[in-house]
Amino acid sequence: MDKIIVEGGRSLKGQVRISGAKNAALPILVSSLLAEGSNTYSNVPHLQDIESIKSLLCNLGARAEAHGDTVHVDTGRILSCEAPYDLVRKMRASILVLGPMLACLQKAVVSLPGGCAIGARPINLHLKGLAQLGADIHLEHGYVRAEAKKLTGADIYFDTVTVTGTENLMMAAVLAEGTTVLRNAAREPEVIALAEVLSKMGADIQGAGTAVITINGVTSLKPVSVRIIPDRIETGTFMIAAALTHGDVTLVDCNPEHVRASIHKLRRAGVKITTAENTIHVHGNDEIFSVDVETQPYPGFPTDMQAQFMVLMCVANGTSMISETIFENRFIHVSELERMGADIKISGHTAIVKGVPALSAAPVMATDLRASASLILAGLVAEGQTQVNRVYHLDRGYETIEKKFSQLGAAIKRIK
Ligand code: EPZ
Repeated sequence: MDKIIVEGGRSLKGQVRISGAKNAALPILVSSLLAEGSNTYSNVPHLQDIESIKSLLCNLGARAEAHGDTVHVDTGRILSCEAPYDLVRKMRASILVLGPMLACLQKAVVSLPGGCAIGARPINLHLKGLAQLGADIHLEHGYVRAEAKKLTGADIYFDTVTVTGTENLMMAAVLAEGTTVLRNAAREPEVIALAEVLSKMGADIQGAGTAVITINGVTSLKPVSVRIIPDRIETGTFMIAAALTHGDVTLVDCNPEHVRASIHKLRRAGVKITTAENTIHVHGNDEIFSVDVETQPYPGFPTDMQAQFMVLMCVANGTSMISETIFENRFIHVSELERMGADIKISGHTAIVKGVPALSAAPVMATDLRASASLILAGLVAEGQTQVNRVYHLDRGYETIEKKFSQLGAAIKRIK
């Protein structure tokens, strides 16, 4: 297993290009199942999760090949309607094939994704919505077996805001008969991006980006050529890296509108940030102030930025309260940060972070995608050499992160 070694103490300087958004690319690549023909997706990040979804699509009978950051997906005749366990267990977002397969094949057999490090991650709201559209759903032997002669529009209310739940139901409803209304829908930029792609394919969707999305079913869709939006979590991660190291970094090919909550909190922490249309300039201040944060669905502060922001608070002046309201077990990085000298107390869903003058390097272990990024960030400022193990978590969500950090002047290397 690869590990990453980081020598702390360097200020990051220069320019970094933000890659396409993993969590936009995944549902958009899956939407190719909704139309026959050849689709072109550009600005797709090179990530393990993207490889997983490509192999899943090929497993279903599609053809998917990449040329640079462009992926072509040709969905001639989709033959199989089964997403097997060994593919789904690698990446829970595979559950997104459920909606499109029901819409096009009237049948889907998808392995239950199971939980992961950060929580149980149920899909009950996906299944409840699909049943309302008329699907017959059975859970057996760890698989979801769903069938629907025809999907008909329904008025669906999500008890909890769910990103992939909203995306799954949107993709099931676009070819359903009649009108579907999704209430308490997720408002993330990735949901809007998917809705824009579906509309370009010929779907009739109103309200994406608000809590109520209305979808009027159409009879067929056509393939498209689209560009994936920038990754707002990678954007936030590099903003924090610049702030942590008191650096001077310009992020390009990003969208400042998608990271307003993170920019607000970083400015409150004393970080100087200026934005233009596709760039963000971060000038790390000498002093970092403690700021309280509570994760919320978009446009609130993202749960995927919680671990990274916590690292900044570990070396801030004062005490901050960080509350995680989305996932039940997303403080796994805390014990690793404590091994690096952080002063953090957990009380329920809240971490009380007391700033310390400096972190000290230690061998640490990555456990989930964003927690592993936070350990790299901690290594950038810890005195000494930090060794981050199990970086395969990192490779799922960050494109060549060590290359991007070393281009900014970090002393970082990957060892096989
Ligand atoms: C998406 O996961 C993202 N993944 C996650 O990013 C992100 O952390 C999460 O949204 C929250 O923003 C992708 O988009 C591929 P949810 P998702 O359904 O859709 C509960 C990363 O780092 N819930 O919005 O699986 C659930 O337990 C990943 O890239 C139900 O109870 O998250 C959670 O508490 C990690 N029943 C809350 O809703 C359901 O049927 C939000 O989950 C569905 C969800």
